Parts: sequence; C-alpha cells; structure tokens
Amino acid sequence: MTKNITVLGIESSCDDTAAAVVRHSAGAAPDILSNVVYGQTDLHAAFGGVVPEIAARAHAEKLDLAVGEAMAQAGLGFAQIDAIAVTAGPGLIGGVMSGVMCAKGLAAGLDLPLVGVNHLAGHALTPRLTDQTPFPYLMLLVSGGHCQFLIAHSAEKFTRLGGTIDDAPGEAFDKTARLLGLAQPGGPSVEAEAASGDASRFAFPRPLLDRPGCDLSFSGLKTALLRARDALVSDQGGLTRQDRADLCASFQAAVADVLAKKTARALARYLEENPSAPTLAVAGGVAANNTIRAALETVCTAQGVAFTAPPLKLCTDNAAMIAYAGLERFRSGHRDDMTLVARPRWPLDDRAPALLGSGKKGAKA
Ligand code: KG4
Ligand code: ZN
Repeated sequence: MTKNITVLGIESSCDDTAAAVVRHSAGAAPDILSNVVYGQTDLHAAFGGVVPEIAARAHAEKLDLAVGEAMAQAGLGFAQIDAIAVTAGPGLIGGVMSGVMCAKGLAAGLDLPLVGVNHLAGHALTPRLTDQTPFPYLMLLVSGGHCQFLIAHSAEKFTRLGGTIDDAPGEAFDKTARLLGLAQPGGPSVEAEAASGDASRFAFPRPLLDRPGCDLSFSGLKTALLRARDALVSDQGGLTRQDRADLCASFQAAVADVLAKKTARALARYLEENPSAPTLAVAGGVAANNTIRAALETVCTAQGVAFTAPPLKLCTDNAAMIAYAGLERFRSGHRDDMTLVARPRWPLDDRAPALLGSGKKGAKA
C-alpha cells in the first residue's frame, strides 16, 4: 500500500489529556505531525496520587482543546484524516470513557472510521513509530502504572512473559520520595539524591529473584526503605543529607538490579524464538533513569541484543503512540463502531494469568 494514512489519536487513560496526528505511508518512516499533551500534575498534587474523578473531569474539559490544538499544529483539516484512534483501555475508567465518547462524537459527526486502541499496545508499538523496529522484539514497560515484559510478535499479538505482582517501579520511586520528603514525581528527585549516595550502605531486598520466571515485586522494597528510615530516625533523631542520599542510592541500585536480572531471564526466553535482529525496547518514565538504563544496556550487550529507548516524550503517556497503534490496526482492516466500550482492564496477552495489584492507574492489565 502506498497511500498515506493519517490518523488522529486520543489518549486519556490516566492523568494526561493528549491528542496527536500521525501520518504513514508504507515503506517510509511514520511522521508525527503533532503531539499535544496536557498534564494534570497540579490538579492531583495535594492528594499524593491521581484522583480518578478529578482526572475524568479534567479530561472531559480539555479533550476538545487538545484535539483542536493537535489539528492546528498538524496544519490539517478533518477532511485529511483517515481514522480516529482512541485509547479504549486499560486505565482509569472515567478518563477512558471521556476519550472514547470524544472519539465516537468525532467519528460520528465527521463520518470517519473509529479504531479502539489498547494503551499498552500504544507503548509496546512505539519502537516501530520511532525506529521501525521489526517484529519480534522484547518490550519492557516500566512506568508509574506499568511494569511488564512483552514479546511483540505483531501489532495484534503479544506474549507477556511476566510483570509486577504489586507496585510498578515508578510508584516505588514516588513512594520513596514521599517517605524521604523529596519532591514529586519521585523518580527524578530520587535519582538526583542517589548521585551523591553510597549504594552499598543499605542491603535492600531483591524481591522474587529467588523464584523462577519474569514476575517482579516492588512493594517489599518500599517497606524495607521505610524500616531503614525509621531505624535511622529513632537512632539519630532524624536523617542527614548523606543518609537520604545513601537510602536513595541503595533503593535505586536494588530496582536496577532486579530489573536487569529479570530482563536477562526475559531475553533468554525471547532469544529462543531466534529473532533475526534481536532487540530490547524500553518505554515508560522509569526508562529515563540512567542507572537503570545502564544496567539494561549491560545485560543486552552481554546477550548480543540491541537496546532501544524512544525519546522520553514518546516513552511517557502520549497520543502519538495511540495514533500510530491505531494506524497499524486500521491498515490491517480493523474497524470499531459505536458499540466500542471503555475497558478498565484489557490485557494485551489474554492467555497470561491476570496480574495482581493495583497501581496509580488502577487495576493493572
Ligand atoms: O510513563 P510515565 O510518565 O507515566 C505513567 O506512569 O504512565 O511514568 C511516570 C513515572 C513516575 O512514577 C516517575 O517517578 C517515574 O516514571 N520516573 C522515573 C524517572 N523519571 C520519571 N523513575 C526513575 N528515575 C527517573 N529518572
Ligand atoms: Zn502508559
């Protein structure tokens, strides 16, 4: 197919209201014509996490603005759009419903095809949007809401090798920051503190490494950090700057170590498929962490696997990934209609056992 396909994507599954336009003609690199993200950090700041009702209301208020802005930045009229793609799950249900209703309204009003997209597929297909990574590749999603290993076989077929059974790593970074009085989001502040810390001072646990498989757990790590902090406070009456830095460095080293060791296992499983150009791709805000990134790159080098990480603004929640995933579905003939439903849970691999736990994005897929 040589025809250009241009898709408007809409994302509202957590705390980012996003719209984007992506164009692709087969054989060429996809083009992101616009990528608008309205964050909600300020709205939730006082509550220590995303409040679903506030998020849903903010999405409903901002979605049409985000769409208008995305169209204006792309310099296109709706007559030049071939399909509307929208995140139909998994995520906070009020937000997902806001996006699906907006997309249905546009599709019905403009007589355009509607394509529902799995938010996780959006993340998982991003290496194809940014680097045209060929299938199959191994994907590690590590964010505030997700943590799973997926083999991407095609735009529709994914095998989940494992995932967190409780918190996502970004949540653990955010909780660590909260426990130590550091700013939110916790990832960047913990990483900055850790830079002057001693990672060997506290021997934090490496949960689930003693068990086979690729599942992960981060809630015990957070509890261990709380105990270490409380022990210091009761011994010394408070934390010094160095204590804080050492706690952060030791915590970060534990997360990096667990992710690296589980990645090595996931890579071994993936390599059994004999991919011709083996690649590990990462996405999610936690992939911005330099210690974690370096640990993952070391594992890849040792196993002869290429490492790719999309630019941060495409690693975190955005609508360009939804437009692109919708574009792949649309090109292969997928169409939804007005019966498209918003789904709080939508596992990419429905043969894998359901994950336990619920993070800041609600129940994990
Ligand atoms: O992908 P993302 O923007 O949103 C979702 O959760 O979907 O990821 C945000 C998470 C937050 O928990 C944040 O603390 C974490 O990513 N994060 C980091 C770093 N930058 C952001 N974690 C560790 N190190 C970082 N440098
Ligand atoms: Zn996400």
